[in-house]
Amino acid sequence: MPGGGGAAAPDNGSPPIVRGVGDLRDAVAGFRRDGHRVALVPTMGALHAGHMALIGAAGEACPRTVVSIFVNPTQFSPSEDFAAYPRDDAEDLRKLAAAGTDLVFMPTAGDMYAADFATSVSVAGPGAGLESAVRPHFFTGVATVVCKLLLQCLPDIAVFGEKDYQQLQTVRRMVRDLDIASEILAVPTVREADGLACSSRNDYLTASQRRTAARLYEILCQAAGRLGAGGDVIAEIERAMVALREAGFDGVDYIALCDGETLEPLSEPRQGARLLAAVRLGPTRLIDNLAL
Ligand code: PAF
Repeated sequence: MPGGGGAAAPDNGSPPIVRGVGDLRDAVAGFRRDGHRVALVPTMGALHAGHMALIGAAGEACPRTVVSIFVNPTQFSPSEDFAAYPRDDAEDLRKLAAAGTDLVFMPTAGDMYAADFATSVSVAGPGAGLESAVRPHFFTGVATVVCKLLLQCLPDIAVFGEKDYQQLQTVRRMVRDLDIASEILAVPTVREADGLACSSRNDYLTASQRRTAARLYEILCQAAGRLGAGGDVIAEIERAMVALREAGFDGVDYIALCDGETLEPLSEPRQGARLLAAVRLGPTRLIDNLAL
């Protein structure tokens, strides 16, 4: 494969796959020798339309796209769904082949974390509160693995979805604070026809939960519209909470109006503000967010 370094291209039409960091670096060095800029799309697999939009944006930004597939154990607590998290490598590779992905990085947990791995990246500021209040382990796991992926691949651009808005802002802050020389490109949330944000965890929903799930976007749109028109923050958030419970959600972990960059809570609507929410439906958590 031209510029492909140590990457093996299976003869079934799948893109070349590398599993070790050395082979990843060789393949990326080959792309650079050929004069190409490189975009990285970090994923945990189970690729859906949201991921494919990230991969499409990567392809528009750079002539070579690397997609990583790694279900990162350190961002799951022992009580979360690491074992049950959807995995379908064959289907993912088929989608990546159709999208023209140039290289797939599929490390094992052993490749990523030595038995005596002792380092973690912790991001305060945008990484504090909201998701962290409910999942305190989460952003340290995400920041550590994303930091590793960026240092392993050294892409010109790394692509993240606005769907995971706090993750996006946390990664941006980490990249800025640690002087990592990759640009972070954000892609708007991809939604199902009824507005539900695409997520691998949507597959966990029963048919009736799936109908309820669509109300999250509707209720967020109403609240964001009223806040954007100058509505009172406390009153509108309370109204949205009531609407979510009445719609049938089993719990609301948070709904908050925050600064769109720092994620500090806002007591008054303003330009650039973001409304973020996390709700529960049975054992499934859904998150979503909207700009005002
Ligand atoms: O958004 C995800 O899929 C994951 O959190 C990420 C960024 C790939 C890190 O494991």
